This record gives sequence, C-alpha cells and structure tokens, in this order.
Amino acid sequence: MTAADYHLVTMTTDVRLALLGCGAIARYHLDAIKGYVPRVKVTACIDADWTRASAYAVETGGTAFASLDDAISADAFDAISIMLPHDLHESTTLKCLAAGKHVMLEKPMAPTLEASARILEAGRASGRVFMLAENAQYWPEVVAALNLIRQGEIGDLVTGRAAFVSEYNPKWFTGQAWRLSQARTGGGITIDGGSHWVRPMRMWFGNITRVVGVVGYPMEEMQGDSLMRSLVQFESGVYASYDGLMVNTPLGPQESWRITGSDGEIVIGGFPGGGVNLYNRKHRSGLSLEGNWGYAMSFVGENQDFVNAILDGAPLAAGPEDSLQELRVAHAIYRSAASASWENV
Ligand SMILES: NC(=O)c1ccc[n+]([C@@H]2O[C@H](COP(=O)([O-])OP(=O)(O)OC[C@H]3O[C@@H](n4cnc5c(N)ncnc54)[C@H](O)[C@@H]3O)[C@@H](O)[C@H]2O)c1
Repeated sequence: MTAADYHLVTMTTDVRLALLGCGAIARYHLDAIKGYVPRVKVTACIDADWTRASAYAVETGGTAFASLDDAISADAFDAISIMLPHDLHESTTLKCLAAGKHVMLEKPMAPTLEASARILEAGRASGRVFMLAENAQYWPEVVAALNLIRQGEIGDLVTGRAAFVSEYNPKWFTGQAWRLSQARTGGGITIDGGSHWVRPMRMWFGNITRVVGVVGYPMEEMQGDSLMRSLVQFESGVYASYDGLMVNTPLGPQESWRITGSDGEIVIGGFPGGGVNLYNRKHRSGLSLEGNWGYAMSFVGENQDFVNAILDGAPLAAGPEDSLQELRVAHAIYRSAASASWENV
C-alpha cells in the first residue's frame, strides 16, 4: 500500500461529524477533537446563528448550515453532536436517529423523564450509537479518585461531600436566555450543571437510591433553582451530602468533592479542576497527585468514546440508560423539595 492509498483508507474511515449548536460547549468539544481525536472530520457546522455556524465551518473546513434539515438533506454527516438548549433535545435527536445518524447528545437528555424515555426508545430502535454526553465520566480528577479508591488507598467508603458552587459566569449565559428559563431547561442548577457532580459520586459510591433536599432561588436572573442542599443515599446504604449554589457575587474557595473512607480521604479542588489530594496514614499531610487536570480535558475521553463506539463497536463507558440516572436524581430532589420528605430515585 502506498502512502497515498493509506491516506485514502484513513480518510474513508474517519467519522463525518456534525456539530449542532456552535455555542459555548461546542468550543470544548471542538478543542478536544482537534487536539486528541484524530479519527474525526467535522464536515457540518449547524447553528441558527449564521455567524457562529460560519466561524466554526471556517475553523474546521466543514460546511456551514443554518438548520439541521438542510444538513440532513445535503447528506453532510454520519454522526452528530447535539449541543442545543434542552427543550430542543428530543425533536433533534429523534430526527437524527430517524435519518440513520449516530448521535451524541449533551446532557441532560431532556427536561423531563417522559421525553427522555421517548429518546431512549428511539436510540434503542435505531441500531446506531446513541450516547448521552456526560463529560464528568472522563474528568481526569474524577477518574484519578476512582483509581485511588480501587487501589484501596482510603479503605472502605464512609461518606462523601459534593459541592457544585460557582459564581454566576456570564460566559455560560451571555446571549443564552434559554439557560435562565425554567421552561426551556426543565429547572435550575440541579438539572443543569448539577449532573456533573452526581456522575462522579455514582462512579465512586454506586447508584443513588433516594434523596432528600431543598431548593432556593437566590439568583434573580435564573427562574429555576440556584440553590440546592441535599442528602443522597447510595445502594450500599452510605450517605453523602450534595450541594449546589450559583450566585452573582464573588465566593471563597471551595472543594468540589470530599470522599471519606475508613483509611483516608480524597479531596478534589474546586471547579474548573483543582487537582487531587490524598490523605491517609502514609500521606498524613496530603499527597498532591500529578495529572493533566481540568474540566476541559474531560471532553477528550468523551469524544474518543463516541468515535470508538462508531468505528470499532467499542462499548460506551456509560450507556444511555445508565446516563439517565443524573436526571432521575435531579427530579427526585425537585420532588423532595416539594414534598419535604425522602424521595426514591
Ligand atoms: N458538559 C458540560 O459541561 C456543559 C456545559 C455547558 C452546556 N452544556 C450543555 O450543552 C448544551 C448547549 O449548551 P451551550 O452552553 O453550548 O448553549 P449555547 O446557547 O451557548 O449554544 C447553543 C447554540 O445552539 C444554537 N441554536 C439554538 N436553537 C437552534 C436551532 N433550532 N437550530 C440550530 N441551532 C440552534 C444557538 O444559536 C447557540 O449557538 C446544553 O445541553 C447544555 O446543558 C454542557
């Protein structure tokens, strides 16, 4: 095989990927793809905002489209990353699956569990790869903590604390009125960014069976909850606390997670990626682990997982049914806040 033939083979085995929604999170997906996911060619950049679609098309060499229908009609892609407001997740996912496309859908699956059930069913029936994108599954700090737990560095798990706490960051909300609208998102921080704090807890402790929580609305800009305090219980019987807070004021530093075991503790620094510290009898003053840390790195494994599933038939790190658990937890917390009692997930 000549070099030219080899090039042809690799070109034809690349995934022809569409980016649907060229907004804030698309930047992270694209940077990860460009840096670390070679078997992808971005062939379509779709956004109702033509300036955004065009800019991504120029950057990737793909074609800009103003609508999903246009890109489907042009047969411009085989797989798609859907990165749209939550209320558009169901209609666009169903349309893409019906057109025979592989779909990676940004979290949450949909604002409601009913819509999510319809999406899941369409994914099952499609025979294509359907993946719910929960980047925390691949967050380097989260994976490192999982490895420490598996290596027995902190013994048996006793309890945990998760804190999704952040100052209101206009970067995620400027020009994104949808993200402040309860009707368009399905809720507030518990259903939105909160999922990235629940997935790690499930990876370390196992599934969450019941929750009790309250919600509040301190951030005027956001219709949904911007404060949440809860206790979650895992299948093992272990309890953890899980907090969420977004306010429009500077805040003091706060770790994202604390995992306490019978023989030590793991502490993961605050968002967007504050490294991993291990405390046990060998490291009484703490061992700061080395790593290529950070939230941005989590999009590497996520995109690799999608591509490997399409090209190699590799299993996803978390299938779509499993990935619905974060939304189930969010809705259980909302039910608990209304009923003032424990609610099953
Ligand atoms: N994994 C994470 O850490 C993370 C972080 C932020 C957002 N998200 C998720 O990503 C998704 C998108 O969020 P975002 O922050 O990128 O939003 P965004 O508003 O920045 O981007 C959405 C884009 O979709 C475009 N759009 C809207 N309606 C459209 C339509 N009908 N057809 C074509 N384009 C349309 C908008 O013009 C915009 O450019 C949401 O599901 C959100 O929850 C995930």
